[in-house]
Amino acid sequence: MSAKSMDELVSLCKRRGFIFQSSEIYGGLQGMYDFGPLGVELKNNLKSAWWKSMVYERDDVEGLDASILTNQLVLNYSGHEDTFTDPLVDCKSCKSRWRADQIGDTCPNCGSKDLTDPRPFNLMFKTNVGPLEDEGSIAYLRPETAQQIFTNFKNIVDSTSRALPFGIAQIGKAFRNEITPRNFIFRVREFEQMELEFFVEPGEDNLWHDKWIEERSKWWESQGVSKKKIRFLEVPKDELSHYSKRTVDLMYEFPHGEEELEGIANRTDFDLGSHSKNQDQLNIQSKIRKNSDSNSRLAIQNKDTNEWIVPFVIEPSAGVERGVLAILNEAYKVEKLEDGKERIVLALKPHLSPIKAAVIPLKKNNDDLVSLAKNIKDELQSLGKGRVLLENTGNIGKSYRKHDEVGTPMCITIDFDSLENNTVTIRDRDSMDQKTIQIQELTSYFSNFFK
Ligand code: GAP
Repeated sequence: MSAKSMDELVSLCKRRGFIFQSSEIYGGLQGMYDFGPLGVELKNNLKSAWWKSMVYERDDVEGLDASILTNQLVLNYSGHEDTFTDPLVDCKSCKSRWRADQIGDTCPNCGSKDLTDPRPFNLMFKTNVGPLEDEGSIAYLRPETAQQIFTNFKNIVDSTSRALPFGIAQIGKAFRNEITPRNFIFRVREFEQMELEFFVEPGEDNLWHDKWIEERSKWWESQGVSKKKIRFLEVPKDELSHYSKRTVDLMYEFPHGEEELEGIANRTDFDLGSHSKNQDQLNIQSKIRKNSDSNSRLAIQNKDTNEWIVPFVIEPSAGVERGVLAILNEAYKVEKLEDGKERIVLALKPHLSPIKAAVIPLKKNNDDLVSLAKNIKDELQSLGKGRVLLENTGNIGKSYRKHDEVGTPMCITIDFDSLENNTVTIRDRDSMDQKTIQIQELTSYFSNFFK
C-alpha cells in the first residue's frame, strides 16, 4: 500500500526533516527544494545504489563528474538553444503564464479564455562567466547531464582504452526554468539526474535499447518500486526529442497521477556526430548541422578494421527527485495495530534507509547505560553501512514511533540486562518483533542485515 495523497508525503517530509521548501523564511523560491538531514541520506543512498549497479557491478561502464556551467557552443550544437522549449501562453486578463499543453483553452487562475497564442519559451538558465556581461561570456546551467559526457568522449576513450560497447555514467544537477513547476519534487527547476550514455555499434542499437529497458525496470523494482505500478510508454514519433529515434518512458503511478520516472532513449549518432570535427569524413547517419568549432573527432576506431565509427547511444536517464518521490510513496504505510491505534511506517529497503539503526538507552540520565549505548553506536558506525544514531530521549515508545516513520530498519535498546548480562534488545521495524541477542553478536548481526 502506498500513500493516499501527496499531502501525506509532504507532511511527513517536513515533519521528519526529509524535504523543505527552499528559501522558505523569505516566502520560498518556486520549483526549488532543500533536502534535510534525512532527505540527504535517502538521496545519497539512492544515488549510491545507482552508481554501484551502473559502474561497480558492471565491467563496461566508466564514471564522470563534469561541470554544471556549460560552454554556449555545447548547447548550440546539441540543439538545445534552438529546440529546448515549451509552449508558453499568457492570460491577458490576470497576466499569469502557463504551459499551453497543460491547460487547454482556459486560464486555470481566473477562468478567462483570453489567452495569447503559444510561443516557444527556452527552458535553459543563461548566465555569464567572468566579469564581462557580453555575448562572448554567455554560458548555461546544463539542462541535462548528458552533453558533457559526449564532449568528454575522446578524453575517456583515450584514457581508458575502451572498445565498443561501453558506457559513461554521471550523476549531477540539471536545471530547467520550468514554466509551471508543480507536484512537490516531481517537476522542479533544479534537480539531479542519473544518466548513462551507452555507446554501441550502429546496427546493435535496437538490441541494446531493449536490454536497457529491461535492466532499468528491474533496478527500480530492487529499490522497492513495485513492478505493477510501472508501465512502459512508447513515446509517439511526433513527440520524440530532436535527437531520438525511439524512446520508452518508465511511467509510474505517482500520488498525483501517472507520469515519467525515467526515459530510455536511442539517441543514435546525433550527439557525437553533432559535436565532432571532420564530420564529412565520418559515416554519420543522423541529420546534423555542420560543426566548424569542435577540435575533436568523436569517433572510435575498430581495432580489427581500423575503420572510424561514430557509435550509436542508448541513454537511460532518471531523475533523483522523482526516484525519491516514488520510493517514499511506495514505502509509506499506515497500519492498524492490535490495540486499535495506528502507526505510520516507512518500509524502505534497508540500503535506502536514512538511518540504519537507532541505539536507545532505556534511561537518558543513567551514565552506564548511555556510555554503553554510545560505545555500541560507535562500533556499528565504524562498519561503514551508513548512519547509526544514538537516540537518547529516554522514551522508548516515542523513539520506536519516530524510527518507524523515518524507515529505520532496527532499534537497539540498551537496558539493565545489557549491563548485567551483556545483551541488547533488537526491535524490527516491519514486524515489530523484539529479540534479545548477546552484545558480542551484534556487529555480525548488523553487518549481515545490511549485506
Ligand atoms: N538526457 C535526457 C533527458 O534529460 P528528460 O526526459 O528530459 O531526458 C530525464 O529527463 C529525466 O530527468 C526524467 O525522466 C525525469 O526523471 C527527470 N526530470 C526531467 N525534468 C525534470 C524536472 N523538471 N524536475 C524533476 N525531474 C526532472
